[in-house]
Amino acid sequence: MVSEHAPSATAQVLVASNRGPVSYTLGEDGTLDAKRGGGGLVSGLSAVDDKLWVCAALGDGDREAVRRGVGEAGVRMLDIDARVHADAYNGIANSVLWFVHHLLYQTPVEPVFDAEFRRQWASYETYNRAFAEALAEEAGPGASVLVQDYHLALVPGMLRELRPDLRIGHFSHTPWAPVDYFRLLPDDIAEQLLRGILGADRAAFLTRRWADAFIGCCTEILGGTGRTRIGVHGLGADADFLRRRSHEADVDERMAALREQVGEGRKTIVRVDRTELSKNIVRGLHAYRALLDAHPEWRERVVHIAFAYPSRQDLTVYQDYTAAVQTLATEINGAYGTESWTPVVLHVKDDFARSLAAYRLADVALVNPIRDGMNLVAKEVPVVSDHGCALVLSREAGAYEELGEDAIVVNPYDVTGTAEALHEALTMSGDERSGRTKRLAEAATALPPQQWFLDQLEALRQG
Ligand code: F6P
Repeated sequence: MVSEHAPSATAQVLVASNRGPVSYTLGEDGTLDAKRGGGGLVSGLSAVDDKLWVCAALGDGDREAVRRGVGEAGVRMLDIDARVHADAYNGIANSVLWFVHHLLYQTPVEPVFDAEFRRQWASYETYNRAFAEALAEEAGPGASVLVQDYHLALVPGMLRELRPDLRIGHFSHTPWAPVDYFRLLPDDIAEQLLRGILGADRAAFLTRRWADAFIGCCTEILGGTGRTRIGVHGLGADADFLRRRSHEADVDERMAALREQVGEGRKTIVRVDRTELSKNIVRGLHAYRALLDAHPEWRERVVHIAFAYPSRQDLTVYQDYTAAVQTLATEINGAYGTESWTPVVLHVKDDFARSLAAYRLADVALVNPIRDGMNLVAKEVPVVSDHGCALVLSREAGAYEELGEDAIVVNPYDVTGTAEALHEALTMSGDERSGRTKRLAEAATALPPQQWFLDQLEALRQG
């Protein structure tokens, strides 16, 4: 199952995650193109020497790279059987665990835990075991292993059995479900997941709220968290990187293009998300339409720039959600637009430079998830903003714990309330907006990625 690889067995810091720091695409002429990813973990880990990142091969390009022995130093990609990976990633991780932690089920009809679920669960176990075995092979004596997220919840327990000498941490990038919701899972599965994570010396979360929910589940279902320590590390925005990157030429070009689309003298409400069910993009569009109804003075004077980038398109429910976003944006433009004004500018093609351009231009940022582990957009906008930006923020985002005081806080289900929050944000005075943006940027950058990662490592080693 696991690709051939000569184990170094010297690495002192190991990270394990489903998605790795690099991915490959296979060209028609057979060439492999490498693309490096970004994100908190990539910059966090750059502060550490003598490390190894273990991840899964995610597509044909990655698999071909493993077969040809193409790769980067410090990265080991596991060529797990494609069917097993699809069951584990699409079936269990994204269609069950993601739904549980983000409270996404339509409970009168779902979930249904039947034989198909049990079959996929067996793949989830196999996939977790492949990671545990690779980590056991690669880790030097007494090394620290940081296992990431709901994809790999069983790895800490499995790895502990294979290598009791290791220090094992688990980090959840998602929220954690409250116990009543977590108990939708079959009892044996709920127990297995908790015991898997409790195989770690330390289980950490993005906020106190998610850590407490995990402790609540362990207490109620298992009677406690045992010997595992629980930690909280609130990942912050990478200010140095963002400030530098957002002033590069390609971002300036995209700003010019966006300004053209918005039109002279108009305000902007910006949102940037993966097209992800938990991000609440559809209700955001409803709230924008409600704003135009309740406060018609904004017609022709504001544009909603919505970037909704493709995500998990193997799942029908994500395809349907993407279509719903596009349909609603078109409907609003049809109903309210004029010859000189397009009320919603929707872009679906992922473009980081354009996202930064929108952050710089924004008068208002709309971040209204149903539930979110942290939400880094809420933290990045105030850092990058050119002239101060009011933040409309869901109280269900992890970022609310740190940014709540200077944001305009909304209940993400309350469309009327969100429309009023948008109005308040649009009418905020320039001075107030600048003051709030400054304080938001300070709070948002309190724990930069490198420190966030080093703190976890230090806490794990101290145990
Ligand atoms: O929030 C959890 C998480 O795993 C993030 O770390 C990541 O940004 C996101 O989900 C992306 O998920 P996927 O790898 O399925 O695209």
